[in-house]
Amino acid sequence: MPFTLDQVVPWGRSLDEYRRLFGLSEQDLAGSILGVGDGPASFNAEMTAQGRRVLSVDPLYAFSAAEIGRRIDETYDRVVDQLWPILDSYVWRDFADPHALGRHRLATMQRFLADYEVGRSQGRYVAGSLPTLDFADNQFDLALCSHLLFLYSEQLSYEFHLAAVKEMCRVAREARIFPLLDLAVQPSRHLAPLRAELTGQGYQVTIAPVDYEFQRGGNRMMVVSKQRSNT
Ligand SMILES: C[S@@+](CC[C@H](N)C(=O)[O-])C[C@H]1O[C@@H](n2cnc3c(N)ncnc32)[C@H](O)[C@@H]1O
Repeated sequence: MPFTLDQVVPWGRSLDEYRRLFGLSEQDLAGSILGVGDGPASFNAEMTAQGRRVLSVDPLYAFSAAEIGRRIDETYDRVVDQLWPILDSYVWRDFADPHALGRHRLATMQRFLADYEVGRSQGRYVAGSLPTLDFADNQFDLALCSHLLFLYSEQLSYEFHLAAVKEMCRVAREARIFPLLDLAVQPSRHLAPLRAELTGQGYQVTIAPVDYEFQRGGNRMMVVSKQRSNT
């Protein structure tokens, strides 16, 4: 099915949020990183400004900055408004309320938009979609996927999740996925079977706590690598 802009509600996170939600160390940040489904996050822009190496892949990057900017304007109020009735599902520690969150997200997405056309011409923003990535085996040290897998568990099948994680592990030495909760702020129904199947196929799978919690209870990531576990 072709990917259309009206399917997307752009909502992007910052480098500081990526750093916390993926538990990124200085050593992690110094490596070559693939951001899968980075969308309008400012992770790539901020990392590049620091002289670091990130390539972002997302079907959204088939569109221009003007088109993505228009879509942000069209959807912004709706995204902020829908949070008020479900405030208790979230931890309001980093952001006082949905308005403060929205202002932060907007600044983040503006940072992305300011970098986007230059980054696209430099090959830092590449149009592409899981579960098939057009990169070489082990091209990256780390593949990160924030707020796509597990979050959209109702929309994306178990088979999609399995193929997507294995593809991330093909192109990178290690894959990290956050969050492990779905849009209803419940543990993803794909998590336990996926963990078991990947482990059975020889992947090393760890569920690790992280220093980030916005969805209540959503403070863990999945780390997957190809090495066989010794335990
Ligand atoms: C909720 S946004 C998360 C953006 C960013 N990762 C963040 O955390 O701020 C989900 C992103 O996944 C992208 N996406 C949707 N389907 C995808 C697929 N099959 N492969 C890669 N990215 C996809 C969307 O275009 C969107 O940018």
